[in-house]
Amino acid sequence: MMSKHEKTYTTKANFMLHGGDYNPDQWLDRPDILADDIKLMQLSHTNTFSVGIFAWSALEPEEGVYHFEWLDEIFENIHGFGGRVILATPSGARPAWMSQKYPEVLRVNASRIKQLHGGRHNHCFTAEVYREKTEKMNRLLAERYGNHPALLMWHISNEYGGDCHCDHCQVAFRDWLKKQYNNDLKALNDAWWGPFWSHTFNDWSQIESPSPIGESAVHGLNLDWRRFVTDQTISFYQNEVVPFKELTPEIPITTNFMADTHDLIPFQGLDYSKFAKHLDVISWDAYPAWHNDWETTADLAMKVGFIDDLYRSLKQQPFLLMESTPSGVNWHNVNKTKRPGMHQLASMQMIAHGSDSILYFQWRKSRGSSEKFHGAVVDHDNSTENRVFKEVTQVGETLEKLSEVVGTNRPSDVAILYDWESNWALNDAQGFGLETKRYPQTLQQHYRTFWEQDIPVDVITKEQDFTSYKLLIVPMLYLVSEKTISRLKSFVENGGTLVMTYISGLVNEHDLTYLGGWHKDLQEIFGMKPVETDTYYPNDRNSVRFNNQSYELKDYATVLERDTANVEGIYEDDFYAETPAVTSHSYKKGKTYYIGGRLEDQFHRDFYQGLIESLSLEPVFPVKHGRGVSVQVRQAPQKDYVFVMNFTEEKQNVTFESSVKDLLTGEEVVGNVTLEKYEVRIVEHQKS
Ligand code: GAL
Repeated sequence: MMSKHEKTYTTKANFMLHGGDYNPDQWLDRPDILADDIKLMQLSHTNTFSVGIFAWSALEPEEGVYHFEWLDEIFENIHGFGGRVILATPSGARPAWMSQKYPEVLRVNASRIKQLHGGRHNHCFTAEVYREKTEKMNRLLAERYGNHPALLMWHISNEYGGDCHCDHCQVAFRDWLKKQYNNDLKALNDAWWGPFWSHTFNDWSQIESPSPIGESAVHGLNLDWRRFVTDQTISFYQNEVVPFKELTPEIPITTNFMADTHDLIPFQGLDYSKFAKHLDVISWDAYPAWHNDWETTADLAMKVGFIDDLYRSLKQQPFLLMESTPSGVNWHNVNKTKRPGMHQLASMQMIAHGSDSILYFQWRKSRGSSEKFHGAVVDHDNSTENRVFKEVTQVGETLEKLSEVVGTNRPSDVAILYDWESNWALNDAQGFGLETKRYPQTLQQHYRTFWEQDIPVDVITKEQDFTSYKLLIVPMLYLVSEKTISRLKSFVENGGTLVMTYISGLVNEHDLTYLGGWHKDLQEIFGMKPVETDTYYPNDRNSVRFNNQSYELKDYATVLERDTANVEGIYEDDFYAETPAVTSHSYKKGKTYYIGGRLEDQFHRDFYQGLIESLSLEPVFPVKHGRGVSVQVRQAPQKDYVFVMNFTEEKQNVTFESSVKDLLTGEEVVGNVTLEKYEVRIVEHQKS
């Protein structure tokens, strides 16, 4: 078995990747600019470029007519200065000739309207001809560049997402359902609660994907459709990678994942926990809205930490930041640029949480179309003298000093469980507060206490191993199968501490409620059962008394019926005043806690403080600091690489309790140190 400190070289590169999306295909008639690119790449201390992402019309301008010479040259030029190429497959967008000749490659939306050619990320994932075309193109790329010394990895398509409802997809969906339900239509009708509104099917051909002009209220159907969309996207991806697995088995493969922007929550469209199994390396595109007007910098940094810890935990290995912006984007409501210092800080936060790269969208700003004002390393002025270019260069110089960190990870005693399927089902549930479910945001709230105290957390999914954690936190796990319930039970039986909250364990994997009250195994391990969930209007408030303090409650309160559980907190108001709101229960070798309502942050701080002490959960490294400073560590067998980051607009005093060495300056550091606004210190600590 691999030790937790063993390095996993996900890209096989022993240096931090720095660079990003490079679209020379937009500049083929400007050799002077392409030549400048190569000079500027070296000046900016960048080393790795993702090429060809949307280059299909440059690679195959007419059907069967291929132009690879320009790409050959790009490979040579990048290789010439020791740079590396992440070669993308171009399936994220098609040339017009293909949509015209083979209209089945175009998507049909949920309202059954066939889309016109245009945009990107809009192919039918079932269309045989698109699968053939991508496989052919990818084979040519593998044959031509598979042995090129500059080739670092394959980047499959771009940000897979969305669905297609064409006739081919309907057939594929029905076939998928037949497999899931062993050809048993009655089993499907049972799982979908068929008799409701007379929705029983008596022939598979009657089943259609969810649609605003058809069926949208059958939750089992909605859930199965989303599962199908994930599987069909993976199947499209698997078809794309056939030539690479065959011809270049040594070259790692990734596709870039996303996050939903405003709250930086995981992308909702695909179950990445399933997708992750098919990738060699997780990579994702991060566009946090730094300096926004709705949260503090530290609040946003906490959310970045959360999602990094999810994507890192998907494979329990370092990931790649595949895209980020060195300044602003073009698609937020307000596209603010990063203030001086933020680029270095935000980049080092990514490294601190497990990234082995800082890659950008994009290398050079486009001249036309919708991304011409999106931040890029090289601006329209083509200059090395502007602030953004200089800050990118600073990041490059820093990364060059962090090569030793590549491949390192860090263990954790705490896990928070996130589940895509449960999120889909909960969002679908017509009940509770339609605006206040906020499942991923609730997980962020639980994550916050640990982030503030520098206690490392893995954000895991339901099929991952629970046994190595002391504390497993499962907030709002609305959908939970019997299998997961029994895994949670055995985690507690064997000594684990489990925290669960309101709106958990209500439905099974078909989104059917559990009958006869809460599942008996959950009742057994928690020593109580939730009997009623009260939903509040936005201005309603209650409070919970816990350890002689009162904490504000909003949105949800669950009325609990205690059996053998201890009462840790009680509601203070309403018809359930004085009844249990927070309970604990010792079960076999472990312990469980149930939090009945949505409580303010201070409650979580105080509640988890008790567990931090009783379970001896340690900060990653002993650095004393105030709120808004975060410390993260990556660990090698003999060394800790410690990142101390000031996510506030003020100077912060921090105290290193043991002597460390600054990785950038080589200087010894101990005792009090002042961090400037947005400053990050990276130090190493030699383990004795
Ligand atoms: C990403 C996409 C890139 C670019 C970028 C702009 O979602 O993958 O191609 O459009 O957004 O921020």
